[in-house]
Amino acid sequence: MTVNTIDTEYAAHVATLSERFARALDGIADGAVIHSGSGHVAFLDDRHYPFIPNPHYKNWIPGPHTEDCLLVIRPGQRPQLLFHQPDDYWYQPPEDPSGFWTGEFDIEVVRSLDAISNLLGDASKLAYIGEHPDAAAAWGLRRQNPESLLAALHYDRAYKTRYELGCMREANRVAAAGHIAAKDAFEAGASEFEIQASYLAATAHREHETPYGSIVALNEHAAVLHYQHYDVARLQADELRTLLIDAGATCQGYAADVTRTYTRGDGPFAALIDAMKTEQQGIIDEIAPGSSYADLHLSMQRRIANVLTDAGLLNMDADDAVEHGVTFTFMPHGLGHLLGAQTHDVAGQQTDTGGTHEPPPAGHPALRLTRPIDEGMVFTIEPGLYFIPSLLSELRAGEYAHAVNWTAVEAMIPYGGIRIEDNIAIVDGATENLTQPHLPL
Ligand code: GLY
Ligand code: MN
Ligand code: MN
Repeated sequence: MTVNTIDTEYAAHVATLSERFARALDGIADGAVIHSGSGHVAFLDDRHYPFIPNPHYKNWIPGPHTEDCLLVIRPGQRPQLLFHQPDDYWYQPPEDPSGFWTGEFDIEVVRSLDAISNLLGDASKLAYIGEHPDAAAAWGLRRQNPESLLAALHYDRAYKTRYELGCMREANRVAAAGHIAAKDAFEAGASEFEIQASYLAATAHREHETPYGSIVALNEHAAVLHYQHYDVARLQADELRTLLIDAGATCQGYAADVTRTYTRGDGPFAALIDAMKTEQQGIIDEIAPGSSYADLHLSMQRRIANVLTDAGLLNMDADDAVEHGVTFTFMPHGLGHLLGAQTHDVAGQQTDTGGTHEPPPAGHPALRLTRPIDEGMVFTIEPGLYFIPSLLSELRAGEYAHAVNWTAVEAMIPYGGIRIEDNIAIVDGATENLTQPHLPL
């Protein structure tokens, strides 16, 4: 199914969440109160940090997400939304709830948080899910974030409903528009700051509305996995070598997480980008329901060894290169992670509702996803190949230094690195690439 059906699938989504909560709450609490979150104020200041809503709240309630709303789930009853809408003239109060989703809830508009205790009634048997223990206690909610409840809910969150898939298809469509604008800006000689501005304008996102801080990395900056700055200065046309842009978008609180890498002209680095595109596609073709994501990660590491060897940068058997950590130098992060209401969605290393933890394979500590691939999951596939000076120095000082063509590798350092990241869903037993229909490689 590739038709987008966010609104028509919503009632079924709420029904699924209701079943999951009824199961997870059984024996733990009579109900749950999910707090959207409260404002955080900077030290000795009156400015608020950006509001980042509770992901459990985003699972239930489409955007826009606003502060101090409480969703009350009591199994067997219609969910109740206590929607905070203060009278205010310093700030614009939230609009009345409206749209396709409101019919699923009993909605009560709350002007003052003082009214919450009365509206909740006997709160002693309710579990609070949120980040403000003091406020919760003042409302009579003393059972806070029970671990066993969260473990069950987090495990289930990996299985996306059709509504969630629709949101993430749309988030990918929006992110793709940003990536196209960013590529155009790079080709026109823009600075990192200007590329980010182009991206935000094309996606109509404010900076804090993107699901993570966009990574906009020119040249050597592409070797910093989570490069976080935006240089304002433009580079000369003949200094521009690489753009690695890892930037997402959201739809109803659900994330897209997309990376592309571009270079100017031909040459060995352009050939490496082409090789990585081929291998990224190859690893996506290996995906099957039930397969082990950790195995895919290891397969990708072997592909990296072969890319390096084919390019004349390394001369080593692929299995040996993985086993002895040589490929780790060039791809020191995991192949990908679960994606959803959070970019790095929860429970990637959790194998049951009880919270059993499956660690990553030895030598691959950054792999966030170790549970088997299954119907309904959405995850990223994001192989990378980097020339990171500190890791290269370690390799050069070690026993496999002889396998590396250092002259060729050093010539690549000014290009930084490559990452190519798509979002993948398992739908009706098949692999659906949510990104490429909007943003071909
Ligand atoms: N954008 C962060 C990541 O790809 O995991
Ligand atoms: Mn990313
Ligand atoms: Mn990612």
